[in-house]
Amino acid sequence: MTRDLRTLKSEAVGRAVGDVETPALILDVGAVERNVKKMARECRRLGTLLRPHIKVHKSPDIALMQLAAGAVGVTTATVWEARAMIEAGVADVLVANQVVPPAAIAELAELAAAASVSVAVDAAENIRSLSLAATRAGSQFGVLVEVDVGMGRGGARKPDETRDLAELAGELPGLHLRGLMGYEGHCMVEDDANAREQMASRAASILRDSVEHLRRAGIAVDVVSSGGTGTFEQTGALSFVTEIQAGSYTTMDVFHERMTDRFERALFVLGTVTSAHGREAVVDAGRKAISTDAAAPAAVGRNIEVIFANEEHLGLRVTAGDPFAIGDKVLLVPGYAPTAVNLYDAYLVVRDGTITDVWPIRSRYGTETIRLRSASAVTT
Ligand SMILES: Cc1ncc(COP(=O)(O)O)c(C=O)c1O
Repeated sequence: MTRDLRTLKSEAVGRAVGDVETPALILDVGAVERNVKKMARECRRLGTLLRPHIKVHKSPDIALMQLAAGAVGVTTATVWEARAMIEAGVADVLVANQVVPPAAIAELAELAAAASVSVAVDAAENIRSLSLAATRAGSQFGVLVEVDVGMGRGGARKPDETRDLAELAGELPGLHLRGLMGYEGHCMVEDDANAREQMASRAASILRDSVEHLRRAGIAVDVVSSGGTGTFEQTGALSFVTEIQAGSYTTMDVFHERMTDRFERALFVLGTVTSAHGREAVVDAGRKAISTDAAAPAAVGRNIEVIFANEEHLGLRVTAGDPFAIGDKVLLVPGYAPTAVNLYDAYLVVRDGTITDVWPIRSRYGTETIRLRSASAVTT
């Protein structure tokens, strides 16, 4: 029988963090609060707005905390995340990807009747589909033309292409051209701070060229959205960038720790040692329980290296200090928070070592995302 969140909450609240079944996803809420306030302060200091990416935590509770600290809205990766945020009361959402499936566009157009919804685009046919869907739904999309600033993922490749897309978005009904988006995600995989800075400068000059190209063509660019946790200080200081989309600062993870030490670890997976042989040990938090994406997990207060990650087993070697014993609890830091969070239904929210709440994780793929719309709804 599956337990609902209310039952889980009644069982969990009041327990010590070490006293729960493993593996479990643990959120240090004090650290989240400090990270959220610090980034809000930093963005004010840099003179930029903050629109945090919530794909990292998928938590309405954290998003509302970010808004209370001064964020102007949130960034999402998917329509389903946008729905979860709007249902929780978020009034201003940017979907930072081109949305293509017709059912998803129709859903976004419905959402745009309830909140301010902007979306990234990089193709004329998509701009036309968005216009049609918004007109049908009686709503309006804000549009940010995505510029490829060197990542090679989404985005127009040339300033002329960016200008043509912006002109189209500015002309069609149901759309309001707001500006440009250019996410320098390729810089985040560069560990060397100087090299990362140079890459981010190149990305910024591509974005700046596009902004100037549009302005020369008489197109208003009110919004320029950019920046991640590894680049926010540099990108946020650019006078033409109006908002920062960073998200990982909220929880941090091993991958982002390589880029900045400005924020605290707030996300953990609690595991139990199920096997121990000398300096090697196995913890019950394999790939189904913790992310090994982008970086190997770390262990709090322990010097370890990960020697393998099977589905249910994480193999560790202690590199200094006492070996593990069977039954030991291990507090692990995920390699990459977004893909760790996505494995769980809920966070065990911890303050001063005690579970104080259980917060849902929304918009994972599954029952919240599969929509079997009628054929008429999906044909444009
Ligand atoms: C478009 C976009 N904006 C912002 C971010 C947030 O970056 P970070 O998680 O490094 O803060 C991401 C992360 O992948 C992204 O894809």
